[in-house]
Amino acid sequence: MEAGLVVLLLFSLLGISSTLSFHGDSISFMPPKKNGDGTFKVTFYHRQNGRSNCEDQSSFKCESGVCTSLDESSVLQTDQDNSGQRRWCQSEGHTTATIRTNKTSFSLMDAGCCWASNVDGKTNWTSHAELDLGRRSDSHALNGCPVTTTVSSLRSPQNCFSGLPLLAYDPDGDHVRCRFAAKSTAPANFTMDETTCTLKTTGQVGIGVHVFELMLEDSSRKNITLTYADGTSAFREATDINSPPLCKVKLQFSMEILPPIPNCDAGHVQPVFLSRTPSHGDVLHATVGQTFQLYAQAQAHHASINDFQVSGPQNMSKVFNDDTFGKADVTLSWTPQHSDLYRSVPVCFTAETNQSQSDMRCVVLMVTQAALIQGKASVTCSPNKMMVALEKASMPDIDVNFLQLRDSSCSLTSNGTHILGSMSFSTCGTKLEDKGDFLVFVNEINSFELANEIIVRRKTVKIEISCKFPKTVSISSYYNLQNSDYVFTESSFGSFGYTFDVYTNSNFTSKVPAIAYPVEVNLLEEIYMGIRAESDLPNVSLFVESCKATPDDNPNNTLSYDLIKNGCLLDETLKVHPSNLTAFNFEVQAFKFSGNYNEVYVTCSVILCEAGNAFSRCAQGCVAQPARRRKRSLHKETVSHSITQGPFQFVGQEDNNSLMKKSDTTAAVNPPPVSPDTKSSGGRRDFAPTVSSGGDWGIKQILNTNISTVVFGCIFSVALVLMAVLVHYFMRKRKADDQKSLLGSGWEN
Ligand SMILES: *[C@@H]1O[C@H](CO)[C@@H](O)[C@H](O)[C@H]1NC(C)=O
Ligand SMILES: *[C@@H]1O[C@H](CO)[C@@H](O)[C@H](O)[C@H]1NC(C)=O
Ligand SMILES: *[C@@H]1O[C@H](CO)[C@@H](O)[C@H](O)[C@H]1NC(C)=O
Ligand SMILES: *[C@@H]1O[C@H](CO)[C@@H](O)[C@H](O)[C@H]1NC(C)=O
Ligand SMILES: *[C@@H]1O[C@H](CO)[C@@H](O)[C@H](O)[C@H]1NC(C)=O
Ligand SMILES: *[C@@H]1O[C@H](CO)[C@@H](O)[C@H](O)[C@H]1NC(C)=O
Ligand SMILES: *[C@@H]1O[C@H](CO)[C@@H](O)[C@H](O)[C@H]1NC(C)=O
Ligand SMILES: *[C@@H]1O[C@H](CO)[C@@H](O)[C@H](O)[C@H]1NC(C)=O
Ligand SMILES: *[C@@H]1O[C@H](CO)[C@@H](O)[C@H](O)[C@H]1NC(C)=O
Ligand SMILES: *[C@@H]1O[C@H](CO)[C@@H](O)[C@H](O)[C@H]1NC(C)=O
Ligand SMILES: *[C@@H]1O[C@H](CO)[C@@H](O)[C@H](O)[C@H]1NC(C)=O
Ligand SMILES: *[C@@H]1O[C@H](CO)[C@@H](O)[C@H](O)[C@H]1NC(C)=O
Repeated sequence: MEAGLVVLLLFSLLGISSTLSFHGDSISFMPPKKNGDGTFKVTFYHRQNGRSNCEDQSSFKCESGVCTSLDESSVLQTDQDNSGQRRWCQSEGHTTATIRTNKTSFSLMDAGCCWASNVDGKTNWTSHAELDLGRRSDSHALNGCPVTTTVSSLRSPQNCFSGLPLLAYDPDGDHVRCRFAAKSTAPANFTMDETTCTLKTTGQVGIGVHVFELMLEDSSRKNITLTYADGTSAFREATDINSPPLCKVKLQFSMEILPPIPNCDAGHVQPVFLSRTPSHGDVLHATVGQTFQLYAQAQAHHASINDFQVSGPQNMSKVFNDDTFGKADVTLSWTPQHSDLYRSVPVCFTAETNQSQSDMRCVVLMVTQAALIQGKASVTCSPNKMMVALEKASMPDIDVNFLQLRDSSCSLTSNGTHILGSMSFSTCGTKLEDKGDFLVFVNEINSFELANEIIVRRKTVKIEISCKFPKTVSISSYYNLQNSDYVFTESSFGSFGYTFDVYTNSNFTSKVPAIAYPVEVNLLEEIYMGIRAESDLPNVSLFVESCKATPDDNPNNTLSYDLIKNGCLLDETLKVHPSNLTAFNFEVQAFKFSGNYNEVYVTCSVILCEAGNAFSRCAQGCVAQPARRRKRSLHKETVSHSITQGPFQFVGQEDNNSLMKKSDTTAAVNPPPVSPDTKSSGGRRDFAPTVSSGGDWGIKQILNTNISTVVFGCIFSVALVLMAVLVHYFMRKRKADDQKSLLGSGWEN
């Protein structure tokens, strides 16, 4: 009690911000504006973290003589721990500074005495941001700042901490570097990967609360000139690390290292995000006046997720939902107001259990105006290229002659109604970004000016176009999607993709069309399936190492049936139709698993090899006893990738004289129990509930019993409900996003 009094006394004596226990903060700027009278208006949002009460935010001070006014809004608590344990809270408030006309930069300061008690013994903290107020020659807009934040309470068991990727998004497209703030020493054995903005460790980190003070600094990726209101200008060379940053903004947070736990597997006791959750670093678009929703889903098999911790804007609502199989999800809703226009809003979230926490994921919401995003663009993704079509009528002020892709040597074309662009994933400046569960190919359409143009009356255009492909494929949640494109990349093979389709006949030319689903196939009909590989490399060959059928979308289901294994054809009805090196066409008679299963999925494991290489897996063909963990000859072949087709749904009346003639022969080919060779292409996997498959009732056993009802040779009416792969869903989602992402003229006028 007395100690408390002393602390309070000290506060009033020192006049320091009164936040008793500081748990970190972040500042994010709106794009600065120039007022009619020539002064600058800079609005920034401040989020401050605490444990039990967050509404008392400290106030920033502006360098004296720079600001003529500093208007603070009311501070609202944006998230808090509702479990009664008071583990976190966060508040957000915003301040608008008016800055004198003749200033070239603007800086903010705040300080306090009292970091939350921490094992590093840190007490005083300072908050800081510094923004260059030059007009940039690349965007013709005033310079902006990187955007970042964290959730309030970060926790990780000591043995499970493998790195904390932080959000570092720059709305100007600048390169952002993150380093420990100058005067603060990093806690022992923590290090910062400055270019990826990832907190890492160099040895064992101590248990307890650590506090971190980071500085985010951006530098232009291109040579630019900054011109200031006082008539001066400055040149900034691209990625010159010695030149002063365009903006500096401090990020502070605390992280508690918890005692070690027995199992660090993601999804065991630490929740893992499932695939509908946006990836870390995603930029999403929200429109003024329209409710934006963000959905995240996580799962922990041996702990119960009781909440999601969120760092978001004021008035973002959170609806938590607890589900079966240790899953839980959250829907965040937010309706941007007019005052949020052009704001880049950082949003971070974690899934919480009593014992630990998932990884933190952060996204950026770009707030755009409805009128600007009504331009219509559609992006079509195929396994090795993307095509974009912009509807001219929807964007009346756009001139195709002043649009370019990232690589300006690739031009856009135009027909009567659309502006068209087509680019391969390896040309035209298309970049590959690894977004955790997804690979994303990104390019953008930009407007440009001619070097000698003095005034411009065309609208500024910046349209990001991208194709997003899951690294691993989980089918269960998505059906009735007919496309099945898979894309992978490997350093020596570039990007390559597979399509897996069902064809109407043995010509393998016409795919079963989307609208025909579900398709009924006549009795005794064959199913025609084709796998195509698409690669930018001219000389590759496709090899189908295995294909197996399962009654659900889990290729590891113990109830499975091998059609092809180790390159050997095992099913006697299976026929391979000759084709070229990058296609594999086959037919098989329809079949069904015995018991109460009426669906069949086919999963194949495929490899691409350098054509003609005698040492590749492709050249070896059928090998009865493959060498265990055969070493893959580098640069000669890819790892194997799983691709899935299905479900084939059996809806027909069961025929009475089921032909069992095949059961003997099939049973004779009795391979050892399935041990999947297929490697997924890396990345995290969803922990979908494993569908119980009836123990070890593999199809062989069933065939060997008299009660076998596995009908091979098929007297079923087959309805092919095609493919349910995520990709198409994401392509469509992406299209929707892209349609939303047309943002026209900047805010500089
Ligand atoms: C900037 O303008 C203010 C008044 O608007 C003036 O007092 C100050 O001296 C000016 N500073 C410089 C460096 O010109
Ligand atoms: C903390 O701040 C106070 C007041 O500004 C100062 O007197 C004190 O020396 C600072 N402590 C440390 C460890 O820097
Ligand atoms: C840093 O890590 C090393 C190696 O793991 C360990 O020996 C050392 O004790 C750690 N330092 C601290 C302060 O924990
Ligand atoms: C940027 O400027 C430097 C120095 O003026 C020059 O050497 C370099 O070629 C320029 N780079 C680009 C990409 O224009
Ligand atoms: C949040 O909601 C309150 C009450 O509905 C409203 O008064 C306030 O203006 C809103 N704040 C923002 C930033 O939208
Ligand atoms: C989590 O911890 C709180 C307080 O210790 C306790 O009341 C609650 O029952 C715990 N919940 C679970 C699911 O263990
Ligand atoms: C222009 O191309 C688009 C996309 O391929 C197409 O939908 C449209 O019909 C074409 N318009 C004309 C006039 O050919
Ligand atoms: C396959 O194509 C050939 C010619 O392209 C055609 O004559 C034949 O009828 C087709 N076969 C089937 C089964 O459609
Ligand atoms: C199937 O098993 C492999 C190897 O054990 C594993 O890597 C993969 O994640 C499993 N797939 C599913 C969908 O469970
Ligand atoms: C290989 O054959 C498939 C059809 O069977 C065709 O779609 C593809 O274009 C062919 N590829 C090459 C390189 O000829
Ligand atoms: C393709 O592979 C064959 C056989 O190895 C080789 O002779 C040929 O030169 C290769 N072609 C290209 C374009 O690499
Ligand atoms: C099943 O058998 C009955 C009587 O034997 C026959 O009428 C019926 O057509 C058969 N069903 C089919 C699908 O063949």
